[in-house]
Amino acid sequence: MENMLQGKNALITGGSRGIGKGIAVKFAGQGAKILLVGRKLSGLEPVAEEIRAQGGQAACFQADVSQADQVEKLAKEVLEAHGQVDILVNNAGISREMPFLEMPIETFDEIMTTNMRSVMLVTRAFLPGMLERKAGNIINIGSGAALRGLPGSAAYSASKAAVVCFTQALGDEVRKLEQNVRINAICPGPVDTELFQKSERREFILQAGGDVFSTDTMADAALFLASDMSKGMNSQVLVLRGFNRW
Ligand SMILES: NC(=O)c1ccc[n+]([C@@H]2O[C@H](COP(=O)([O-])OP(=O)(O)OC[C@H]3O[C@@H](n4cnc5c(N)ncnc54)[C@H](O)[C@@H]3O)[C@@H](O)[C@H]2O)c1
Repeated sequence: MENMLQGKNALITGGSRGIGKGIAVKFAGQGAKILLVGRKLSGLEPVAEEIRAQGGQAACFQADVSQADQVEKLAKEVLEAHGQVDILVNNAGISREMPFLEMPIETFDEIMTTNMRSVMLVTRAFLPGMLERKAGNIINIGSGAALRGLPGSAAYSASKAAVVCFTQALGDEVRKLEQNVRINAICPGPVDTELFQKSERREFILQAGGDVFSTDTMADAALFLASDMSKGMNSQVLVLRGFNRW
């Protein structure tokens, strides 16, 4: 199928590499205008260039999505320049692995703030416009670690479990408003990105025998949720894993 996202503006956080980049390129190929968000414009521009070189449309916005003032500024800039966001992918995230008792409180806070608070802030910025227009689609990137806590990653697992429950709670809340806005999450197992390849948990996960997905496969799952192929699906968790244990 072609042009499944024609005419849509898709904002993707953490769009400079990995899963965010994969989703951006995939969505652009289906006709969406891509609004890439990241902490450094220099990291986003090459992705925008790649999309444009393939005939797509892309714009870049600088913001640390864990910071309320920066997200407020981002929303103002995006809405002024592009009018609306039809699809929001809350993808930006970090992982810091270490035994729980060795983790400084600051690291715990950094993980929670980047992985969960950012989802709340960016959703709060763009959901009102979706409700007003009676159309919108939000996809939150969780993790397999949200469903079965990953040893050595207590904070990361907890932050992603929070993303899943936020998705379910808000999805049900928004459904009651009958404004045609859907909110779902994807919980992938390992995906071949910098985050996974540099992970201290990499060997553990590989020894457990799980499949490592490509960013393109991950982007297909996101396209399913972003498109009418998943119409009616709301408050759900799409699990992208080859088997069901660590
Ligand atoms: N790779 C995996 O195995 C895997 C598995 C499950 C879930 N995930 C999740 O998928 C998402 C993407 O992961 P990835 O593997 O592509 O990681 P990655 O490290 O390759 O990319 C993460 C992106 O998020 C951006 N980012 C981080 N903090 C940010 C902030 N405060 N503001 C704006 N941008 C920020 C980074 O700059 C980068 O562009 C993350 O939420 C991650 O937790 C990844």
